[in-house]
Amino acid sequence: MVNKADLLNTKQMATFVAKGFLRFDELVPPEINTAIMAEIDGGDITAAAAGTPLSQCYPPPSAIGQMLRMPQIEGIIQSLVGPDPLFDHQAVHVRQPNEDSAQGMHGDSIIDTRMHFDIQLMYFPHDVPLEMGGTLVVPGSQYRRINEMDIARYQNFLGQVNMVCKAGTILVLHHGIWHCGRQNKTNQKRYMFKVRLNPRVRQLRLWNTDDLPANVGAHKAIFTRDTNKVEDVQTILGRTEPWFENATGRLEIINRIKMWRFLTGDEQFDVHYWLTRLENMPENRELAA
Ligand SMILES: [Fe+2]
Repeated sequence: MVNKADLLNTKQMATFVAKGFLRFDELVPPEINTAIMAEIDGGDITAAAAGTPLSQCYPPPSAIGQMLRMPQIEGIIQSLVGPDPLFDHQAVHVRQPNEDSAQGMHGDSIIDTRMHFDIQLMYFPHDVPLEMGGTLVVPGSQYRRINEMDIARYQNFLGQVNMVCKAGTILVLHHGIWHCGRQNKTNQKRYMFKVRLNPRVRQLRLWNTDDLPANVGAHKAIFTRDTNKVEDVQTILGRTEPWFENATGRLEIINRIKMWRFLTGDEQFDVHYWLTRLENMPENRELAA
């Protein structure tokens, strides 16, 4: 049972819907990081069969299991894909020292047209300085479907985020986000552990919705728990990314609105008037007479 306090809040969920990822720096304590590095070096991380409930994966004394069962990480997982999601696949990604090329930029799923989404949970067991490359993501790209490596010729995007981070950092991604592993220019191998998880429940208000206004269709503010600062969902979902065309990003803002409606069940929700305008298909003939 996940504590409410460990679930994501509305601001975090809106940020995930807008950007397609959330990062949690230095969340995993050093002793677990050390134990996981030992498991990686020993080749001891055994994958379950695809479709196995996560609760049956990585049984004790697995250090990966210990990490995934941390209350904060269970809270993140449950907020996004619900309780006890299905294990899809795992990978220990390794970038060799002084490699001469980076992985091409790619998206993993043009074939996946669902509103329902999987998450890729990435865990960085050691410090990743910039010269080590790090995973790169393009914020806000998760709804722009592309076929795998079709975009690999592009090396850099405005607004891209390099995962330069400390050991124990967690990154959770919407499965559609554009990403790649950057070139490792150091003398050490770089590791990243990834696990993909599929929801088993309808992804409807799975996070801590205490700060979600009852009438989210209205332009009401949410209060961030940490700072008492006021910010509304519309502001978060309307914020453009530098790579958006014409500085408006209307396509992605529409996609975000649709996702927010899907996650909250509020079919009236809008940012400004973007989606309501497109839904206006009047049939009133008397008024025109
Ligand atoms: Fe990938």
